[in-house]
Amino acid sequence: MNKEMSETLVRTGPGTPMGNLMRRYWVPILLSSEIAEPDGPQVRVQILGEKLLAFRDTEGRPGLIAEFCSHRGVSLYFGRNEENGIRCAYHGLKFNRDGQCVDVPSAPQACPRMGITAYPCIERAGMVWAYMGPADQQPAPPEVEWCNLPASHVFVSKRLQETNYLQAMEGGIDTSHVSYVHRYEVDIDPMHQGTKANDYIKADGNVIFDIEKNPFGLTLFGRRNGEPDSYYWRVTQWLFPWFTLIPPFGDHALGGHVWVPIDDHHCWAWSINFHPDKPLSDEERRDMEMGKGIHVDYEPGTYRPKANRDNDYLIDRRAQQEKRAYSGVFGFSMQDASLQDSMGPIQNHEAERLLPTDKAIVMARRMLHEAALGLAQGIEPPALDATMQHVRAAGVLLARDLDPTEWAKAHLADGKNQPVYSI
Ligand code: FES
Ligand SMILES: [Fe+2]
Repeated sequence: MNKEMSETLVRTGPGTPMGNLMRRYWVPILLSSEIAEPDGPQVRVQILGEKLLAFRDTEGRPGLIAEFCSHRGVSLYFGRNEENGIRCAYHGLKFNRDGQCVDVPSAPQACPRMGITAYPCIERAGMVWAYMGPADQQPAPPEVEWCNLPASHVFVSKRLQETNYLQAMEGGIDTSHVSYVHRYEVDIDPMHQGTKANDYIKADGNVIFDIEKNPFGLTLFGRRNGEPDSYYWRVTQWLFPWFTLIPPFGDHALGGHVWVPIDDHHCWAWSINFHPDKPLSDEERRDMEMGKGIHVDYEPGTYRPKANRDNDYLIDRRAQQEKRAYSGVFGFSMQDASLQDSMGPIQNHEAERLLPTDKAIVMARRMLHEAALGLAQGIEPPALDATMQHVRAAGVLLARDLDPTEWAKAHLADGKNQPVYSI
């Protein structure tokens, strides 16, 4: 990828083409539980390079405002959350969740000109989402399947990844790596083990890709040998601009991610598991809380994984030698994150030499690049219509002469009204 395209894709701060594009969609900000209580402590958040403050007001509504006071720039983190607003601790200015200044104790007449940036928020799937784009362009709330299920059916976690969002998200699009770095993990992980999917994945590492460009993003069809008369297809969905839906394993919960830039060197990797039609079992929920599957174990009191850059992601050379962990790192997410981090905070895209299995990544890059440049010329971004997000991932054995794209049109386009296709 050339320098111009790389720079366009990786920079997401205010005023950048990619930043403007991402601001046209609802952005996951933080877990609802981080601001659980009305009038509880506010939380600093940085998203798309902007320093912000999240809080829950007296009426229980989430708010997202600029971190700094309009008066003389004090961080409102040190302010007090009271009576539907945050009061700055320095001279007592108060701001509500719309960013309006509602009190200037020393000069009430100054209120109207003291307002700060604020973004509208909604809550879905135990997450607070904000719309950070132009006020008159706000799209309908997201309708990715897991967003609108009962709380009992969904588990959501987030982890800090110390790289640009793009190389993190590309791991979610590049399903060919599953046969390598995750090769042994699928057998020991409670949320993947004991499925036919594992057998096919391990037996055939030479995935052949068929990729379909859709109005919502990409559908990736990964073909492996199945039974003598069938192929095993893993169907991954990438939804504009940052959702990935993972092909399922047996009866285990479905999974997905959202890849959200914090700044150009960090991102939030959101990991979601869900059952469309039944609650997660206590055992599943316990495993997820313990960091199994696509979730992780944290450094206490943070969202930084225990396996991190400072300890070489707890690489275990013996496990690597003995083929208990392909890379020596344990856990799906940390296997990916460790390798993506090893590229540097922003991968040197000019030096890469792509292979045929990178076709999906190339297409996603082109679509994002085209949309970012298009928006700068006044062309509306794709997939703003949330009903386009009703798709689902799948893992399925199909007769060798069957066209998987036709099958997907009939069985995955409106996932909610279909059984889960998984083996
Ligand atoms: S800096 Fe906030 S009130 Fe003065
Ligand atoms: Fe992975």
